[in-house]
Amino acid sequence: MRLILLGAPGAGKGTVAKMLTAIDGSVQISTGDILRAAVKAGNELGQQAEAFMKAGDLVPDTLIMDIMKERLQADDCKAGFLLDGFPRTIPQAQALKTLLVDLEISLDAVVSLDVPKEVILDRLTTRRTCENPDCNAIYNIKSSPPKQEGICDKCGSKVVQRDDETEEAISKRLDVYNAKTAPLVEFYDQEGSLLRVNATSSEVVVAAIRNKLEI
Ligand code: AP5
Repeated sequence: MRLILLGAPGAGKGTVAKMLTAIDGSVQISTGDILRAAVKAGNELGQQAEAFMKAGDLVPDTLIMDIMKERLQADDCKAGFLLDGFPRTIPQAQALKTLLVDLEISLDAVVSLDVPKEVILDRLTTRRTCENPDCNAIYNIKSSPPKQEGICDKCGSKVVQRDDETEEAISKRLDVYNAKTAPLVEFYDQEGSLLRVNATSSEVVVAAIRNKLEI
């Protein structure tokens, strides 16, 4: 399947993407994970992105488009892909549209994960993430804690709180989402490819996607 997953920080895009990869081998492409791995590696991309991310701001569109142009042409995308956290602005959505035409790829749907704000705030302050960039498993100390506290069930690495999970950065990320990313819902609605789903339950989101794609 080829999907865009839209939704506020903490809406559950990463969680749903990981569930969907198990269905047909489509790969999860999370720009957030790619950027965090670059920051951890200390490479040029990481150095350019780090300050924006820590403050809860978006990384410049040109950097993101350079990453995505290359990523979407990788061999593993042939089985399908789940775009998690991209596009994030109208210019990114427009650039993606042109890129997909050039690559002769069509999307199956754009899914908007709708979750009430109070649920989002609760999820973000209680989320924990595996620090191994090859794993990035997502946990929640309330709803889905690791079996052994602080240790990833899947790879045994440390499970940590992200650098952008301070109260200040969370609040900034939600403001940035409302100003720059929320307008994409209208953008894709006009394109006729939007599926809106109440994402209080990830299982319900996955079922709605399967139903829409008839898989
Ligand atoms: P990114 O990593 O994309 O963060 P985000 O969009 O803010 O999304 P999150 O990862 O916070 O949330 P999610 O929706 O994936 O939720 P999750 O599944 O983890 O981006 C980080 C930064 O990178 C940005 O701020 C920006 O600086 C930069 N960036 C990235 N992409 C960019 C782009 N395209 N352009 C410019 N800059 C970019 O779930 C959250 C929690 O809730 C977890 O604990 C989970 O266990 C729990 N949970 C999920 N679903 C449920 C459920 N159904 N019931 C109970 N708990 C649940």
